[in-house]
Amino acid sequence: MPATGGWLTVAVAPGAFFNGGVKKSLRCLITAGPTREHLDPVRFLSNGSSGRMGYALAWAAMARGWRVDLVSGPVALPPPPDAALHRVISAAEMFAACEPLFAECDLFIAVAAVADFRPKIPAGEKMKKSPSGEGTTLELVQTVDILKTLAARKRPGQVVAGFAAETQNIEASARRKLAEKKLDWIVANDVSQAGTGMEAEDNAVLLLSRTGGQWAFGPAPKRAVAEFILEKLAMEGLSV
Ligand code: CTP
Repeated sequence: MPATGGWLTVAVAPGAFFNGGVKKSLRCLITAGPTREHLDPVRFLSNGSSGRMGYALAWAAMARGWRVDLVSGPVALPPPPDAALHRVISAAEMFAACEPLFAECDLFIAVAAVADFRPKIPAGEKMKKSPSGEGTTLELVQTVDILKTLAARKRPGQVVAGFAAETQNIEASARRKLAEKKLDWIVANDVSQAGTGMEAEDNAVLLLSRTGGQWAFGPAPKRAVAEFILEKLAMEGLSV
């Protein structure tokens, strides 16, 4: 963010906004990557999220001079310098890390592919095969919906955006999530397409706003998709 020489200023820099006349850097909370829900100490339920989309958004937000808290599940990506990185494993840990940060943020973007289920009772020791060759049954319970829970606590002026990973009825499913989770924005992407989506370098998205706006973008590298998303949010929604 460009230096302004004081905390009262007349020009609004792209990474700044006014709060009662005091200029602040916009504070952005991003979740990224998968979560792991352990069955036992060595096995877990998870998904193929690479974390690239969330990390690309973190880079793009920092390039705008915003302060970034990145709450990340296990990924093989270098941490973006200057972002505050909070490493977590499970959905419960991700929620615990996000809760206090959400209260402080101006913009929350939930990109993480949070596991929807976890084993009800994880085994304390490695589960052994039965000598008779019998199978086993896992009892699963739902994890906390981090985005929905935090969006319900939104205070005036905060902006909340989610992602919708879909394999069918992309737009309708995304619109349902936008309404059900009480979001300001949702980014829908088709995770069934080869070359775009969860594990890919590129993404193609449909961005929908609570106020009825709709924009398609891509296929394009995830960093370009991230720039597009933040540009739209900055133009349309962050000043509310
Ligand atoms: N999300 C979350 N916590 C969860 C599940 C999802 O914060 N336990 C967030 C994701 O980060 C994403 C949005 O909710 O921003 C939608 O996630 P998605 O996986 O598309 O949908 P779900 O809400 O999990 O619903 P379903 O799996 O039934 O499509």
